[in-house]
Amino acid sequence: MNITAETQAIGLLGHPVAHSLSPQMQNAAIAAYGLPYVYLAFDVQPHLLAQGVMGLRGLGFRGANVTVPFKVEIAEFLDGLSEEASLCGAVNTIVNENGRLIGYNTDGEGFLKALESVFDWQPRGQHVLLLGAGGAARAIGAALLQAGVEELFIYNRTPERAIGLASLLGRMGHWRTRAVERPGEAIPYVQLLVNATSVGMDPKTDAIPLNPELLENHLLVADLVYQPQQTRLLREAQRHGCRTMGGLHLLLHQGALSFERWMHRPAPLEEMKRALHTAISNG
Ligand code: ATR
Repeated sequence: MNITAETQAIGLLGHPVAHSLSPQMQNAAIAAYGLPYVYLAFDVQPHLLAQGVMGLRGLGFRGANVTVPFKVEIAEFLDGLSEEASLCGAVNTIVNENGRLIGYNTDGEGFLKALESVFDWQPRGQHVLLLGAGGAARAIGAALLQAGVEELFIYNRTPERAIGLASLLGRMGHWRTRAVERPGEAIPYVQLLVNATSVGMDPKTDAIPLNPELLENHLLVADLVYQPQQTRLLREAQRHGCRTMGGLHLLLHQGALSFERWMHRPAPLEEMKRALHTAISNG
């Protein structure tokens, strides 16, 4: 990477960020085109978030990614939000548009692209069970419904949050969303099961977000967790004959869409994928 006085920065704002794979993935994409940018991760203390955003503005950053725990609260410090960022109430990408910082969210669209590339799956007319009711579930649920999913069932450990998310998504349009008390109620009717909880994430890798005996071989099973790549949910799903997709595919496609927002050119997916795998195998 050739850093000169012309090099412009792109940041990742989160807390913590030490384990993020985005710097390797985005710098590989920048290098593939030889672009004059550098992508750096910043561990922002939560009480300094406003100053962090001012830093992006004052130093003329091209943009940024936003991760846990700032995806929701960052919106108040920005100059505008895209439609999908307001719809899901969260921002994962900031673009500096002539001095105005605009918030986008590429998680939902990235997830749809991942489903298409791995399963060759189109959402229109399909039935889906979503596990979880936090920020990730909201972005994925909104994207699935907007893309034409016929019915979305939501199961969450805390049922009130599932009910809240179902009514929030339902209010956004004439969409059929329904909270269920048990995942088993929905499984016979759905083609896709998505884990949007943090269950199974390193270090509690033995955890699983539903009873594995409920898994049936007609299901496509997608897990947003990517550390580890093979979660217990995915292993159990394979054992039951299901096709599976790990969280790394979402990471890749949301990152590719962020790159395209900053650079206005197609993301070099193969280079980004390779960088992710190298970063993971280097631990
Ligand atoms: P994010 O923005 O990443 O979605 P979040 O808003 O904290 O993060 O949501 C985490 C999700 O994982 C929630 O659906 C949470 O369930 P609760 O609403 O009941 O807290 C779910 N989750 C986290 N740990 C869990 C566990 N041990 N068992 C079941 N669900 C869990």
